[in-house]
Amino acid sequence: MKILFATSEAHPLIKTGGLADVSGSLPSALAHYKHKVRLVLPAYRAVMERLPEKSLKQVAKLSVGGCGREFEAVIWQLKAGAVPGVDVPVWLVDIPALFDRPGNPYLAEDGADWWDNGERFGVFSKVVAELAMDRAGLQWQPDVVHVNDWQTGLVSALLSVETQRPKTVFTVHNMAYPGNFPHSLFAQLQLPESLWNLDGVEFWGHFSMLKAGLICSDWVTTVSPTYAKEICYPEYAYGFEGVLQKRAAEGRLIGILNGIDEHIWNPEVDELIHSRYSAEKGRVAGKQRNKAFLIEELALLNGLSETRIQGHLADWLQAPLIGFVGRLVEQKGIDLVLEVLPELIEQTPANFVFVGSGHKSFENALRDLAQRYPERMWVYIGYSETLAHQVEAGADMFLMPSRFEPCGLNQMYSLAYGTPPIVHHTGGLADTVVNATDENMLAGTATGFVFYDPSRFALKSTLLHALGLFAKKRSWQKLQKTGMQQAFGWKASAQRYLALYVED
Ligand code: ADP
Ligand code: GLC
Repeated sequence: MKILFATSEAHPLIKTGGLADVSGSLPSALAHYKHKVRLVLPAYRAVMERLPEKSLKQVAKLSVGGCGREFEAVIWQLKAGAVPGVDVPVWLVDIPALFDRPGNPYLAEDGADWWDNGERFGVFSKVVAELAMDRAGLQWQPDVVHVNDWQTGLVSALLSVETQRPKTVFTVHNMAYPGNFPHSLFAQLQLPESLWNLDGVEFWGHFSMLKAGLICSDWVTTVSPTYAKEICYPEYAYGFEGVLQKRAAEGRLIGILNGIDEHIWNPEVDELIHSRYSAEKGRVAGKQRNKAFLIEELALLNGLSETRIQGHLADWLQAPLIGFVGRLVEQKGIDLVLEVLPELIEQTPANFVFVGSGHKSFENALRDLAQRYPERMWVYIGYSETLAHQVEAGADMFLMPSRFEPCGLNQMYSLAYGTPPIVHHTGGLADTVVNATDENMLAGTATGFVFYDPSRFALKSTLLHALGLFAKKRSWQKLQKTGMQQAFGWKASAQRYLALYVED
């Protein structure tokens, strides 16, 4: 099969969250089964800057209409293997007026959405649709086009009006981002009029690129079985529950759990951590060395002197260390954490590390608390791939109290690193973490801690439970080991996608 995989971010080229991890590893997993996969991505400045010029080859050029202007899109091909971690050929859609900018794929440097995101991803999707129809002179006709989230949702809508088109699969990674724009964008992009209706891209008078993907794709998938059920209810669907219920009734909505890239997120081979370890070998000592390294590094970053750090290190190594890595947005339950943090610091021996960026109010609240408790919690506000790995390796437990979580990757990384996660029972968290109840501990199936109500009280009592178990070394080690033995690789999920690609 030939598979065109379109996405707005892919590790290691560009990443803001889990979509990049999935787009970096699922295509490789598909290629592993001898399918021909091409990854297509906007040629953002950050991507082009890090690629050596000679690794890129211009393979096509096409005209595409934007809002009242015409763009010349150059398609650059990056060969598989040209950059470590890039295992399939990548097509980069180069339209400098839209993508040659600072900031991240969606946000300007001041943290606000780019004012023209509708045009940027509308135009990108138009180009992907042309590539999918093999109309750019590349002589590569995909059998399947796999698109992801609202940024590429329009591709399915554009293909739905074609005859002799490839099959379309749309994966929803997060319903919270609907890609809603005014009707004027639809008109300016000169999209087919037939798409403007209830069964098309129209959503309460707006133009929704998420709806385009949900309603016009042959298959809709989402990244965990539980989230596939949740999004049929208004609480999780942001007004799209009708569309999703319809697709589910047609048997076209399916949950496929994400995998994790075992070459990247694996404490046995991870080059970003201080000491490598495995479930069998040196897990306890390995984690302890990583813990010391992480605390020293973060305490220094937080302004503590070397002498002060050395004075406390032995105590810090004894005390439980709770880690958090993630986008600082309400989705991740960071507000709940902030509510209970002072009490937990005052009432328990636990110390905390936070690595994240997002809403300024959450960033500032974490910084303030770190100043108030300089010997109990350390924060890094920003994005650091290295620190993300080091927290997984060095923390004793991982906090992920998301209000909703389509899949979540960090809890799976935590399991793999012997860092039992503490999670709210939702989406992929519910599908991947087994609560440490007495029964599950006895049965040897427990892997972490689960709470069922997204409240500060439930979070706090679950944390207290986790801290209690941490003190029982043998039980704790059993919990760690069971987590580390879980298989969350891509194999099973890639096979499920492949089965969908061929099913009518
Ligand atoms: P989401 O996609 O909703 O952000 P996931 O758990 O699926 O959540 O994936 C998040 C990914 O982004 C993980 O690989 C995580 O390590 C990474 N990540 C999030 N915030 C940061 C940060 N500040 N620094 C480094 N990595 C981060
Ligand atoms: C989204 C979701 C996250 C998921 C990721 C990859 O960003 O918030 O839960 O793991 O996509 O699918």
